Amino acid sequence: MLPKILVIDDDASLRRVVEYNLQEAGYQVLSAAGGEEGLRLFAEESPVLVVTDMKMPDMNGMQVLKWVKKRSPETMVIMVTAFGTVDVAVEAMKAGAYDYITKPFNRDELRLIVAKALQFSGLTAENSRLKAELSNKSDYRTIVGSSKGMERVFEVVSKVADTDASVLITGESGTGKELVARSIHHKSRRNNAPFITINCAAIPRDLLESELFGHVRGAFTGAIKDKIGKFQLADGGTLFLDEVGELPLELQPKLLRALQEKVVEPVGGTKPYKLDVRVVAATNLDIDKALADSTFREDLYYRLAVIPLHLPPLRERQEDIALLLHYFCGKHGANRVKFGNGVLNILTSYRWPGNVRELENLVERLLIMRGGDTITIEDLPEKICNGATTLGVKTSSGNVINLPEGGYSLEQLEREVVVCALGRNLWNQTAAAKFLRIPRHTLIYRMGKYGILPPLHTGR
Ligand SMILES: Nc1ncnc2c1ncn2[C@@H]1O[C@H](COP(=O)(O)OP(=O)(O)OP(=O)(O)O)[C@@H](O)[C@H]1O
Ligand SMILES: [Mg+2]
Repeated sequence: MLPKILVIDDDASLRRVVEYNLQEAGYQVLSAAGGEEGLRLFAEESPVLVVTDMKMPDMNGMQVLKWVKKRSPETMVIMVTAFGTVDVAVEAMKAGAYDYITKPFNRDELRLIVAKALQFSGLTAENSRLKAELSNKSDYRTIVGSSKGMERVFEVVSKVADTDASVLITGESGTGKELVARSIHHKSRRNNAPFITINCAAIPRDLLESELFGHVRGAFTGAIKDKIGKFQLADGGTLFLDEVGELPLELQPKLLRALQEKVVEPVGGTKPYKLDVRVVAATNLDIDKALADSTFREDLYYRLAVIPLHLPPLRERQEDIALLLHYFCGKHGANRVKFGNGVLNILTSYRWPGNVRELENLVERLLIMRGGDTITIEDLPEKICNGATTLGVKTSSGNVINLPEGGYSLEQLEREVVVCALGRNLWNQTAAAKFLRIPRHTLIYRMGKYGILPPLHTGR
């Protein structure tokens, strides 16, 4: 990933020269013709370095500097000043600018000062990406989970992200398929190029082909000008084919060709385009059934599912429920909220047909409707209280234990109980030990015995 630099200058010719010089030196350059535009681009693109002119009509360089530093103190800012205004430059340095450069300057002076600033900040490309991820902990790239099932998902994601292999994500509705697709893109070297999505089930069949591949003017009635398809928009980046199981049979060969030969042909066109697009697809259909019924071509399936990735339903990863509750409370600005007696029990044994999306919606609703800082059983919707699992054996303490017909190892059960207790207590060992009514060292001993490790990443 090339370091991203934002150049802000109202003088178009100077801006172009700076842009050109930095691009030639191997940086990715964004440019803005004024302070406001610059700040907007800054917010959207998070560049690692800003080069801003001091005097601009809408907002001066000092204001830009202060805004950037307040929002992102680690970003380097270089001021461009007019000859003879050293005092302003000194003021800017005091306010946190890394350095200044006086007009007129030559190519080498500019490159040297930029290279020094980047070296100083230690922001190698990789570093800046990690920083961005950390600072965006609660954005759409964060996937929460510490269950075995999610650990496997994280492992596959990190292995495949930086390859060009197609990934087919399967899983029930609301399990996080799109989130995982975005995460694959963001962890790949395509990170700076677009992530384009198309929902194959939401677009009418007769428009889908031109949405995907584009069309040329006059290709059909109503095609009054050329249209760029999603494949072309995603060039260099990732195309997310959502609900791919619903792709009409007649379009499947064309998609297969695009994947195999890496070329697309707009509707009505004669000249195929060569493209560099990574495809990630998702479906919540039973794809085996679609293959058996011949509504989905097998050859296309194998092309899409070079790496198959299944997201387990939430009911199969109960350890994640407390973490997710905590995460969504934080996301909605309610870190202080607590869950009263029995609430976690009920939420853990509920079946969550709408998976994580249903859980997030519930949290939002509970936060709006709650009376105080504690959410109690009375706050829970009836559907959830009634829907909590009633299978299994009710023990004398009123808990439900599901034991398989064929018997079950007590050690395995103990391991699961320890993992669940830790998960529920957000991996706080003191709290988990208290929950299990054992001393902390006993808990640590059991963790060692069963090889239970705290999740490396409970939020990414
Ligand atoms: N593990 C997770 N951590 C944090 N948020 C999650 C997680 N899984 C899902 N979400 C959130 O739940 C919501 C639903 O996820 P997403 O849209 O990715 O699901 P989906 O599998 O694509 O669903 P559908 O099949 O209905 O399109 C999103 O807001 C997403 O951010
Ligand atoms: Mg989706």
